[in-house]
Amino acid sequence: MAKIELDNMILECPVIVGAEKEKAIDISELRAKTGYITLDDSFSNTGSCKSAITYIDGDKGILRYRGYPIEELAAKSSFAETAFLVIYGHLPNKEEYSRFSGLLTDYEILNESFKHHYEGFPNNAPPMAMLSAMINALSCYQPEVNNNDISKFDVSAARLISQVRVLAASAYKMSVGLPTVFPYPEMSYAENFLHMMFSLPNRPYEMDQDIIDALNMFLILHIDHEQNCSTSTVRLVASSGANLYASCAAGVCALWGRLHGGANQAVVEMLNHIKNADYNVKEFIDMVKNKKNGVKLMGFGHRVYKNFDPRSKILQAAAHKLFKKAGQSDELLSIAQELADYALNDEYFIERKLYPNVDFYSGLIMQALGIPLNMFTVLFAIGRMPGWIAHWKELSENPKRRIYRPRQIYVGETLRHYEPMSMRG
Ligand code: CMC
Repeated sequence: MAKIELDNMILECPVIVGAEKEKAIDISELRAKTGYITLDDSFSNTGSCKSAITYIDGDKGILRYRGYPIEELAAKSSFAETAFLVIYGHLPNKEEYSRFSGLLTDYEILNESFKHHYEGFPNNAPPMAMLSAMINALSCYQPEVNNNDISKFDVSAARLISQVRVLAASAYKMSVGLPTVFPYPEMSYAENFLHMMFSLPNRPYEMDQDIIDALNMFLILHIDHEQNCSTSTVRLVASSGANLYASCAAGVCALWGRLHGGANQAVVEMLNHIKNADYNVKEFIDMVKNKKNGVKLMGFGHRVYKNFDPRSKILQAAAHKLFKKAGQSDELLSIAQELADYALNDEYFIERKLYPNVDFYSGLIMQALGIPLNMFTVLFAIGRMPGWIAHWKELSENPKRRIYRPRQIYVGETLRHYEPMSMRG
């Protein structure tokens, strides 16, 4: 028990201990019993739920999905298999995997009317805006999804995972005025995405196993990351009873921002900027430290990791491998390396415990894969989809779930009365 002493009163609050011994104080009775609420701007110290999906130890740089270390999954698993693990809680056996991948194949074709939705967007529409709108539109083609019937969950989840890559690749093809192509049932998830992005009806994309493996690994690394901004958004929207597609469409919007998923695009923009600027890496780092014009070292820092983000280590090694294979010494990778070397040895970054996060090297990987810059965050969203779905399921299956409704401390005007316009100064 934890004891909170307030106004000559002592409230005993249960201490909750998680599976990995992390501790929390359950303050759910605080307001009812004392009239106080807790105030935790930006939720740095607030646990919003109990969850059995992902474990992070930010001080040690540990990330596990359903108990499995991210390093093992990234090296040995496939995106579809890890998606199943994250959603259903265990690695699939042969029959389970065959059913799951069968569903991904069965639902991979979009309704033809989607073409008209795409035609309604201007040519330069941001792909994240299109993706969010299109995911929301999916529910119009499956109205029963609004009933949130959990027995239909498997089909809705598979449809969403399968179609999000088709929606994304179609958005890209339309934006560059090229015809869309259909996925092939015999291809893996990652292969099919590359095929839909880069094949043309008259010229198939030439597959390279290292590229397929890199995309597969990239997607696995992005599947889940516990209660981050977009996942909390999905859970918050779902808590009102919103359907799976509406909740995940909201997740796409939250991911779009540059402090979250949008950072992968922002990192490559920053590297290009430094490449073309008349100052060097050290001068850029000085600008960051002086907080000049709010310049940040994009791809560095994390609310939870106060050590290396394990995903960043895996991506760094993969970026070097891909560029070496292509026989290129890539200038942007060298700038990234130089930035990291400076920052990791600089007092400003050391004392604030700022390390490279997942986005620092992921944009370079996507560049090596030939993915256009404005699609980087869309790829993050494709990878994150099984995680959002798993959280939607976990929340929806909880018999004790209640609508998310934070409180506030009101700091506005106190009571005042309406005056007609003629009497206002
Ligand atoms: N560059 C320079 N200074 C930084 C950075 C950075 N990237 N990140 C944090 N700081 C400073 C911050 O200004 C503050 O300094 P001070 O103590 O002097 O006020 C101190 O470090 C503590 O930072 P914070 O603001 O408390 O950190 P936060 O937990 O609120 O924000 C973050 C976390 C990821 C938004 C932030 O580190 C950041 O903006 N990083 C750059 C954007 C980025 O790479 N985002 C991707 C995050 S990982 C994947 C994902 O979530 O999508």
